[in-house]
Amino acid sequence: MSVLIAASRREAVSVTPVWFMRQAGRSLPEYHALRAGLPMLQVCQTPDLITEITLQPVRRHHVDAAILFSDIVLPLKTIGIDVEIKPGVGPVIGSPIRRSADVDKLRALTSEDVPYITEAVTELTKQLGDIPLIGFAGAPFTLASYLIEGGPSRDYARTKALMHSEPGTWHALCGRLADIAAEFLRVQIAAGARVVQLFDSWAGVLSEAEYRAYVQPHSARVLRACGELGVPRIHFGVGTGELLEPMASAGADVVGVDWRVPLDEASARIGPDYAVQGNLDPAVLLASETVVASEVARVLRQGRVAPGHIFNLGHGVLPQTDPGVLTRVVELVHSYSTESAAELVQHQRGGA
Ligand code: CP3
Repeated sequence: MSVLIAASRREAVSVTPVWFMRQAGRSLPEYHALRAGLPMLQVCQTPDLITEITLQPVRRHHVDAAILFSDIVLPLKTIGIDVEIKPGVGPVIGSPIRRSADVDKLRALTSEDVPYITEAVTELTKQLGDIPLIGFAGAPFTLASYLIEGGPSRDYARTKALMHSEPGTWHALCGRLADIAAEFLRVQIAAGARVVQLFDSWAGVLSEAEYRAYVQPHSARVLRACGELGVPRIHFGVGTGELLEPMASAGADVVGVDWRVPLDEASARIGPDYAVQGNLDPAVLLASETVVASEVARVLRQGRVAPGHIFNLGHGVLPQTDPGVLTRVVELVHSYSTESAAELVQHQRGGA
């Protein structure tokens, strides 16, 4: 039985499971060697490359899960949206969606649109054996924000303006994005993904009232569809300390927490029915070995208070991270997680 799946169901585990958001790529030289000169979304449509890049961090770091190498905007590309990923910038949309008529540009996704996902996931599931593959999709709000803004944004002004001034258009857009995300996840689950993560990376810019009225029903529909297929669901966003409860009750099994809220506090906010995932600050991996070890011990100690804990960073691996430090964190999590609370306090204080 996978420790990651057991923890997500709040069952007892022999060691705390660990994986890293953005573990595939970015910090790995073997990834950059393979990627050289190829556009990101082309790589995401090539089964052999998807498979190899997904496996690279598993071989190197001995993490407890693989995450499919893909991107949240890939399904949009496959249904004909003019989207590109610019290095160092992120997704950029050629003609943004800003009025009711634009919403019709989003046709439904079918499994025939993404044969390379089925092929790669099938192969990965074979090669990974007992290690689960995490499938993922972008949540409707985060995808809508890229489509409306035309790219990354600081203030999400156009997104919020559309949400408030044209709620009909907003809900129609998010309804279509929910269908796309649900189908993208269904394809991954059908081919063998055993856990899913819904990334609502930018939901933290919303108030709780906005989240409940404009976002939660759409994310809930995506999570419900996965729940019916029997896989544990992780629901993650950045800066979502004030949204942890509605993100949990949207239908998560595990709530992803960034580094701003300690895991014991996060667990108190959502109650005993959910596991938590997180939440080492990715920037801490650039600090000294002693600091890293101390912070790993702290996160584990606070995570113990929750009814289930999957160790992760509070957001993705930073590109300048030394991959050796990631491997070391996996070793530390596995060895510290079998120790007593008193020993964890000792490690946190810098004791060996
Ligand atoms: O390792 C993994 O986690 C699996 C692969 C993965 C990628 N993107 C690969 C990628 C996953 C899970 C994602 C999800 C994703 N994509 C999110 C949600 C996660 C999060 O960080 O909040 C978001 C918001 C995106 C959109 C996106 N795609 C951004 C913001 C960027 C970064 C742009 C940059 O260069 O800084 C991308 C590009 C991207 N997606 C890269 C990778 C490995 C970098 C591409 C490259 O190597 O040039």
